[in-house]
Amino acid sequence: MQSQGEIRDERPAGLWAGMLVLFILVAGVGSFIVARSHWWLQPLASAQGKVIDEYFDWILWATAIGFVAVHLFLAAALIRFAAHGTERAAHWHEHLGAELTWTLVPGAAFIILGILGVFTWSRIYSAPPSNAQVVEVTGKQFFWYIRYPGQDGRFARTDPRLISQSNPLGLDPADPATRTNVVLVNELHMVTGRPVEVRVRSLDVIHSFFLPNFRVKQDAVPGRTIGLWFTPDKPGTYSIACAQLCGTGHYTMRGNVTVESQAAFNTWLQQQAAQ
Ligand code: CUA
Repeated sequence: MQSQGEIRDERPAGLWAGMLVLFILVAGVGSFIVARSHWWLQPLASAQGKVIDEYFDWILWATAIGFVAVHLFLAAALIRFAAHGTERAAHWHEHLGAELTWTLVPGAAFIILGILGVFTWSRIYSAPPSNAQVVEVTGKQFFWYIRYPGQDGRFARTDPRLISQSNPLGLDPADPATRTNVVLVNELHMVTGRPVEVRVRSLDVIHSFFLPNFRVKQDAVPGRTIGLWFTPDKPGTYSIACAQLCGTGHYTMRGNVTVESQAAFNTWLQQQAAQ
């Protein structure tokens, strides 16, 4: 049996803890509002990016509702139900409805987001349309090799044993396509409205091929060729970044993207091939 002296009134402490939780809620929502107006996503320039942005918003709103609801509930519980010194705790089966609600509602939200995610994923990693421009991007500390096939669309065979200063990707001289392939550094050109399939590779460590405006981010893994596709739909100049800490020069590993008409692209590629 507890003596009367050991039962403490916790309401003042509950009030302070509740206010702290409300402060965290206001600070969280406030920093979101500031971030959204200053450092939000780069302007969108691809058709698939719209789907990704919508998915991003779904996750954002689902977690925002969860964040606000949980903090309000926690603050209310702390302020209202701090021990007076006379209560006993309720068991879960006394509030089965509440238990089921806060288990099943977030569970359902996760399942819905998971299903939406599978559809979003399949749009980017499915087989590209047959009219896609194909380009190979190879990361190396600390730049990107971009390889374009010739008129016939063929990439020459590569072999790591053939890699040298003058042949950084190890193109096979015995393959006729070697003469038509164009290898550039940090210059990615694409055609407005035409799907582009990018085959991502790495020569040394893990890099991450990141096109913020196109909502493309794919790890470049040594020994693997990873394909993805998207459709640039706004002409302009953009950046390639490396989104994986890959060494001391990681921050310098950026390239240029140009989205232009098919005619401008053809002229440009011919000029590069002639050099
Ligand atoms: Cu490559 Cu960071």
